[in-house]
Amino acid sequence: MLEIQNVSLELNEGNGVEILKEINLKFYEKKIYVITGPNGGGKSSLAKLIMGVYTPTSGKLLLDGQEITNLSISERARLGIGYAFQNPPRFKGIKVKELLQMAASHNPEKVNICDLLYDVGLCSQDYLNRDVDASLSGGEMKRIEIATVLARNLKLAVFDEPEAGIDLWSFQKLAETFRNIHLKYETTIVIISHQERIMELADEIILMSNGTISAQSERDTILAGILNNDACLCSANCAKGGGQNAQCAG
Ligand SMILES: Nc1ncnc2c1ncn2[C@@H]1O[C@H](COP(=O)(O)OP(=O)(O)OP(=O)(O)O)[C@@H](O)[C@H]1O
Ligand SMILES: [Mg+2]
Repeated sequence: MLEIQNVSLELNEGNGVEILKEINLKFYEKKIYVITGPNGGGKSSLAKLIMGVYTPTSGKLLLDGQEITNLSISERARLGIGYAFQNPPRFKGIKVKELLQMAASHNPEKVNICDLLYDVGLCSQDYLNRDVDASLSGGEMKRIEIATVLARNLKLAVFDEPEAGIDLWSFQKLAETFRNIHLKYETTIVIISHQERIMELADEIILMSNGTISAQSERDTILAGILNNDACLCSANCAKGGGQNAQCAG
């Protein structure tokens, strides 16, 4: 479905840093992928590259065999790619209800906005008429953004750390929501997450560090590896604890 071929990304081209290095990935229909790995490993950058916020320095992206490498964010959105940001933007002068109605208007299936809010653990009576501005807490905003992505019935939905800022009580519900979309829609779901409970939803887990894919496999194999991880994932490949790294010695 989505294929990433030999993609590298250098920001501030010329004197910049290479954030992603020769990434090759294939995402298939109706599967859940979880991308995990240490902070700064390149996960959000990869998500932004899929969405069209960044254009690769080299390599190609194909959606159902069609090249989308140079398509804009809105062209990709029209083809059914959606992204929920790690830090969702807020919009002045728009109500939650209007934001969700706009998102749902691109969906040929009829969706119930109150059900969507319920799916992300928000009571529609309390939230439909709230402004999508700074008055919403971080966790509330995060859930509303997830609801807008659900409203669109996408081909590929990318969620960047959906758990961030969401309390433990609601977390179980969120995990169930992802499971339900998976059962209900044809959507391929890519979730960037550090949470074991989210990883448990995955068909496949992709481990990213230092801008490369350091491992990719079906869930249980990778999960066992991560939970027993003893290796250092830093760019210097130093021993755990920094013992063999010259800069840490002494
Ligand atoms: N616009 C930018 N200019 C320069 N460096 C950047 C830029 N955006 C990201 N980076 C760097 O690229 C690397 C990858 O960042 P990215 O946000 O993709 O990491 P991540 O895996 O999502 O991390 P986290 O788990 O903390 O969210 C980091 O070292 C970051 O500092
Ligand atoms: Mg990130």
